[in-house]
Amino acid sequence: MELPVFDKNSVFDAMFNSVNDGINVIDENGTLIYVNNVSAKYAEKSVKEMLNKPIDEFYPHSALNELMIGKQEIVGRKINYKNGKRYLVNAFPIFVDGKFKGGFSVFKSIDDIEQLNERLNHLELQIRLSKSESNYETIIGSDGSLKNLIKKAKKTVGSLGGPRHSIITGESGTGKSMLAYYIYLYAKKIGALSKDAPFIEVNCAQFTNPDIAAIEIFGSEKGAFTGSTNKKGLFEQADKGVLFLDEAHALGNHQTMLLKAIETRSIKKIGGSRFHNVDVIIIAASTKNLKEVLLPELYQRLAQYELYLPPLSERTIKEKEDLLKYFTDKYEENVLAINKINLHVNYAPVAMQTLVNDNYPRNIRQYRDVINASIDSASPLISDIKPYSSIDVYVDSSHIPIHTDVFVNNSSYTKVVDKPNYLKSILPKQIIVDLKNKGLGPRRISKLLQEDGYDIKYYQVAYFLKKLKDNREY
Ligand SMILES: Nc1ncnc2c1ncn2[C@@H]1O[C@H](COP(=O)(O)OP(=O)(O)O)[C@@H](O)[C@H]1O
Ligand SMILES: [Mg+2]
Repeated sequence: MELPVFDKNSVFDAMFNSVNDGINVIDENGTLIYVNNVSAKYAEKSVKEMLNKPIDEFYPHSALNELMIGKQEIVGRKINYKNGKRYLVNAFPIFVDGKFKGGFSVFKSIDDIEQLNERLNHLELQIRLSKSESNYETIIGSDGSLKNLIKKAKKTVGSLGGPRHSIITGESGTGKSMLAYYIYLYAKKIGALSKDAPFIEVNCAQFTNPDIAAIEIFGSEKGAFTGSTNKKGLFEQADKGVLFLDEAHALGNHQTMLLKAIETRSIKKIGGSRFHNVDVIIIAASTKNLKEVLLPELYQRLAQYELYLPPLSERTIKEKEDLLKYFTDKYEENVLAINKINLHVNYAPVAMQTLVNDNYPRNIRQYRDVINASIDSASPLISDIKPYSSIDVYVDSSHIPIHTDVFVNNSSYTKVVDKPNYLKSILPKQIIVDLKNKGLGPRRISKLLQEDGYDIKYYQVAYFLKKLKDNREY
């Protein structure tokens, strides 16, 4: 192959402008004698504007400035410029006949690389998230404390005899709603319910008016009463799916209607005359012992399986740690999905211990809320973080919100809300000392005490603490 006659300079120029790195060449005085397009772009100038000017006009603290003093090569140097940009630089001196004649540098923006990296991370997580969005919510403890329970829960819809109604009991926040939904997903997975089967949730405690409740649950027919319309009840909406009756202890006087609907597998709307067939799996959840609250026949019908969720305090340490990780991951995923920020949450060992070992009377829901609030408290404001950036957050003990319940275990501490008035104004000295040792001031302490039913004013706490300090007491 024959090469055309060419001008070396224009070929080098074309070459230097075809790379993705910035290139600067200076003479022995630090004057730019060559600049490629990428460098000019980084400096937000044109090549022409930069040529024959001192390099530090465009790149203060550049590697080439340093090179003029040391006259030695500089390799792999990260440099922060005033404008907040960061570069990775290699710079080399030029000697002619042993005399220093200047130098050249080749550099690239790390911001670009890091941003690319973050975008990549973001995409990776998106893929991971969409994959993990399988048909199951993660249930921590499903191969530990909840192992037998999950097995039983699967049986409610998966046994040979066909799907059955069930009852889920457990304290508030132990995962009753979650388990009900899990059963529904499982029923769909194994084909006990069709893929488009409905899951209808009714909070039985939400109705204060029994007539409205009856219409909501069973529907109404036009003309039944003044202004009545044809309304599909929740029961009918749940046809061929799951009707989740939450807080079922509040069913009150609808129990008979419900029992009838279950027995006949049909409902009659309020004001209606016809029966409609309905085929639903009922899951009733409650914090109360339903055996004591419901009509015996209804209880018997529903409690073909009884699923009891133990409180958080009865779960293993490992599960509490897993939950901490689970909720932390969820937090990070949300921040990424919503704010496009790569958040990485770290815990000080003491903070982790405190979180895992604290007492949470409102169970997993409260645990989750306290974890979220701790991360909130340790994180900078969203508005102070650039999208697509990565930040590390470090949660220490000071970030964990005081949830008064932490002190429930305390020997001297009992809730006084239900106690007679005279007890409410007795100063709970040990609690105040404990709270003070946790770093709380008198205002916060009195507020917490008031929330727990004490009638203790701020100045009483302040006075007590002052006396304590003056060593007149204790
Ligand atoms: N075993 C568990 N694994 C993961 N998350 C759980 C678990 N149990 C409960 N949760 C979460 O805790 C919160 C409260 O659970 P929920 O089902 O609403 O409780 P309940 O209905 O008993 O009051 C929800 O955010 C739920 O997803
Ligand atoms: Mg619930």
